[in-house]
Amino acid sequence: MRFHIVDTNPKDVRRPLFTAGGIGSTSMEFRQVVARRKMVRSFEQRPVPGDVIDRILDVGRRAPSGGFSQGFDFLVLDEPAATGRFWEVTNDPEFPYEAEELAVAPPVLILPLSDKRAYLDRYSQPDKIEFGLDREENWPVPYWHLDTAMAVMLMLLAAVDERLGGWYFGIVHGERALLDELGVPEEVRPIGAVGLGYAASEEKQVGSAYSRKRRPFDDVVHRGSW
Ligand SMILES: Cc1cc2nc3c(=O)[nH]c(=O)nc-3n(C[C@H](O)[C@H](O)[C@H](O)COP(=O)(O)O)c2cc1C
Repeated sequence: MRFHIVDTNPKDVRRPLFTAGGIGSTSMEFRQVVARRKMVRSFEQRPVPGDVIDRILDVGRRAPSGGFSQGFDFLVLDEPAATGRFWEVTNDPEFPYEAEELAVAPPVLILPLSDKRAYLDRYSQPDKIEFGLDREENWPVPYWHLDTAMAVMLMLLAAVDERLGGWYFGIVHGERALLDELGVPEEVRPIGAVGLGYAASEEKQVGSAYSRKRRPFDDVVHRGSW
């Protein structure tokens, strides 16, 4: 199965991307995309063409969502001044970013924003009101974060398909100050940030994935009972 084909007019992201692989396709096989995906934390300091970023965002937009509420928004920072400001505002004085980290920071940042209001509104509509999910306390898990996370996963996979590196990471400091600067409404929160860019060829092997083993299949999968 092909993941998506590159459109003949890649600038027009409104055209359908999800068709079977065809002439001109440069896409990878789905399993190859999944196998190649890993968090990239060192990036080349060169811009990514806007149409490439748009295709990745368009894939994210196709994430499933409870009641098709679609309570996710993507705020894109792709100018050095904007990404620089992100690092300034989110810098934790107790654990400051190191200069060598910032030197390989992703040229594009996407804030995946989770909007609870879309869910409470959607589940207040006549076809959903009977479920009682118009009240936040009745949700088994916050689907607004779950759906936004699904969109993040799709974008990370789409980045691989575009031969880019992707990095999902948490914002541990300065979140509200950042959102205020960016004009994000009070109720809307990022579930973290996604960095995108061309992976540096000599990426240092950092992160838990290099120090821990993936759990074996039979350990993860339970059939019939635990
Ligand atoms: C919910 C979540 C939070 C994460 N937070 C961070 C983070 O703050 N910084 C970071 O560098 N990586 C972060 N990661 C990436 C994980 O470290 C990474 O996915 C894991 O080690 C497996 O490696 P892989 O994604 O390269 O296969 C996070 C991943 C998830 C799913």
